[in-house]
Parts: sequence; structure tokens; C-alpha cells
Amino acid sequence: MVGFISIQDAIKKGSGTVAVRGWIYRERGSNKMKFIVLRDSTNIIQCVLEREKFEKQWNNIDKLLVESSVEIVGEIKKDARAPTGYEIQVSKINIIDRAEDFPINKDLNEELLGDRRHLWLRSRKMTAILKIRSTVLQAMREHWLNKDFYEYHSPEIMSMQCEGGSTLFKVDYYGKPAYLSQTWQLHAEPAIFALERIFTIQPAFRAEKSKTSRHLSELWMAEMEAAWWEFEALQNDAEELIKHIIKNVLEKNKPELEILERDIKKLELVLKKKFPRMTYTESLKILKEKKKMSVEWGKDLRTIEEDKLSELFDTPIIVTEYPKEIKAFYMKEPEKHPKEGKVVLGFDMIAPDGYGEIVGGSQREEDIEKIKENLKKQGEDCSKYDFYLDTRRYGSVPHGGYGMGVERVISWICGLDTIKDAIAFPRTMTRLNP
Ligand code: 4AD
Repeated sequence: MVGFISIQDAIKKGSGTVAVRGWIYRERGSNKMKFIVLRDSTNIIQCVLEREKFEKQWNNIDKLLVESSVEIVGEIKKDARAPTGYEIQVSKINIIDRAEDFPINKDLNEELLGDRRHLWLRSRKMTAILKIRSTVLQAMREHWLNKDFYEYHSPEIMSMQCEGGSTLFKVDYYGKPAYLSQTWQLHAEPAIFALERIFTIQPAFRAEKSKTSRHLSELWMAEMEAAWWEFEALQNDAEELIKHIIKNVLEKNKPELEILERDIKKLELVLKKKFPRMTYTESLKILKEKKKMSVEWGKDLRTIEEDKLSELFDTPIIVTEYPKEIKAFYMKEPEKHPKEGKVVLGFDMIAPDGYGEIVGGSQREEDIEKIKENLKKQGEDCSKYDFYLDTRRYGSVPHGGYGMGVERVISWICGLDTIKDAIAFPRTMTRLNP
């Protein structure tokens, strides 16, 4: 059999003879007919086999199970009753591999689907999400490349922490302790002195001891760092990036969003509005006035508070100027600020509809003494960070960056119940297999 086309192209063609190949998505039959819904990476299509045309092969055709791989030739025509509006009257079938009884069905719970993840990837839901994920990553790259950024990569094995010791994964590094990287940041900042504007999309690791719908142990982080960029420019870039991603997903993945039953209007709205920005202090006031929730100044916003705050808006929001005590050691303390010494120029972007923090970033502290002091307060040995401190010794410039949680963004865009579905093989506190 030659001249195979994708199922989507066959549907586009709409009439005449077509040759398609793929996997059996659904099957049912009677004594005289076999109905196969065939699946490939592009779409599904109903195929009808009449017994009288396949008398010699009928025994084999009749016993075909879901996920068997086949090649099919036949006449395609419109049929309003078929799942994608078209049907193929099959004239030839070539069975490539006869599947065993497929161990996935509607009644499996999340745990069992997790165990059989390698097979569940074939579902329409997972296929749709993985296609959107591909668009999201491409859009991220495109956004920064359009702004003359360089793609740059940092090591994944580290001798020190960056985002606090509590989420470090320890590894045995030739008998010495080492850690999996929580962020590219410590090895990104040195590179801006060479490349000025850089980005990456690479894995990050967090030993999160919480089983929530928004935490992964291995996540992908899209990060940028830029020389000469200050606080507002960083927030603007993060907002533009989100809009660029959504625009691309809306352009390229409408069918997938439909499969996921995502309310597209909500995403379209995000493109039209400027994301509200508020300081941490203002966010506490809003929570108090509109949600009757009081948070003591200085305490971090918990998930519940972020969720309540985001309920008041239909786009992501950006919360800025957090208390210094709850943020990382590298964030800049603003000068001549009413809360000088108490806040830092850090920001979080919080997604609507309870998807939580999708971006964390900051302008970086340039004062080497302040950085050392912050590290010491965290009980860190400054000598381990000496290479990083060199960035403040040799031609330091204002700079900053942020990290965007790739799976958090996908989870929100797709409207998923859990972040685990935003990645093919999730790693969490309770899942390492398959
Ligand atoms: O806010 P975070 O911790 O920022 C940093 O690591 C900075 N060093 C980034 C930078 O400035 N270059 O993490 C960034 C984002 C979070 O906003 C969140 O979206 C995501 O990474 N993230 C997680 N996503 C899934 N599971 C986890 N356990 C995550 N931890 C962080």
C-alpha cells in the first residue's frame, strides 16, 4: 500500500480513494459489518468494513481489538453520523499488529491511569494536551528570539541552593553531596555579562513535600535574564510572553481546546486586557476589603489567599514588592522607598481560576554586602557562592529575570484538574513510575 495521507488530510480531501494508517480507537461489529474508528496523530475517522467484501479475512477482522495497528484503503465520504463527519468505506485492510486486550477503559481511576501512563498518552485528552504543550514551548522560544535573546543553558547538578534548602533534591556526586538544580539563575546571571539577554526552557527540580494539583518534583521552567532591564520591563515581558503563548495556542490548537472542553472566551479575554498590577501591601488590603481575609503584613500569601485574590480578576495579576523576609536572597531592595529595607523588587504572576503562581521574578540585588548578609541569615556559607558574587565584583549592572512554570501555564491554558496532565510522565512525591 502506498500514498498514505494523514486522517486530517483525508477528511480535508473529503471524497475519492484514500490510504490512511493508524491505531484502532474504537471498534464494534455485527455478523455483517465491522465499524472501526481509526486514530492517528492528527484526528479520528470512522471506517466501515462489509463482510461480503472480506469473506476470506473476516475471521481476523472480526477479532481486531482496540489499539491494533492497521493500514486502510477506501472511499471517503461525508456522513453526518460519523464522529468527525466523514466515513471510509474500506476496500483493503492490512493488519500490522494485532493488539492484546488494551488495559485502559473508562472505569480506571487516576491512580491506575497513572500506572499505565505510557498507554494513556494515546488518549485524545493526552494527545490534545501534548500538542498544546508543543505550541507553548515553541511560542516561548519565538517570543524571546524575536527580542534578540540567546538560548543559553545552565548545569542541572549543583553544589549549592538558590531557592531555599527545603526543596533540594540531594544526589550522590562521586561520594560528595550535590543537588539537582531548582532554577538556572545562579549560572544565568554570570552569562548576561557576555550575552546580555538570555533565556532557557529546561527542567528544574523541587522536592515538594506536598501533594497538590499544582506541584511537580520535576518541572520545566522557562527563564529569562537580561542586563540593563529593570523591574517594570521584566513584568512587561512576562505579560507579553503569556499573551504570545495564548495567541499561538488559540491560532494553532482550537480543535485540541475543544477536545479539552476549554472555555476559549476566557483565553481570548486575557489577550484583550492589561494584567492588573498591585503591590503585596495593596493585595492584603484587597483581600481584607473584598474577601474579608486578613493576612498579617510580612506573611507570604498562601494558596488559599492567592486563589481568593485571583477570583476577583479574569486575567493573570502581578503582585509586586513582597516582604524581604519571605523572598530569595538575590532580590533587590529598592532605594528611597517608603518601605525601604522591608520589601524587595520581586514579583509573582498569579493565574486566574485557581491555577496559582505561574511566574516568579525580580530585579537582582547589586550590593554584594547585602547579598552576603542575606545568605548568612539563611545559614549559607558565602564562600560557596563566591563565583556568583564575582558578578557583583566585575562590572555589575542593573539586571533581572524571571521563571515561568511551563506546566502551570499549560495546566491553566488547558483548564486541567491537575498539573500532572501537563507533562507526559509526571514526577511527584508519590509517583516515580512509569
Ligand atoms: O518562583 P520560583 O521559585 O522562581 C525561581 O526559581 C527564580 N529563580 C526564577 C528566576 O528568576 N529565574 O519559580 C518560578 C516558577 C513559579 O512561579 C512556578 O510557576 C514554577 O516555577 N514552579 C513550579 N511548578 C510546578 N511545580 C513546582 N514544584 C514548582 N515550583 C516552582
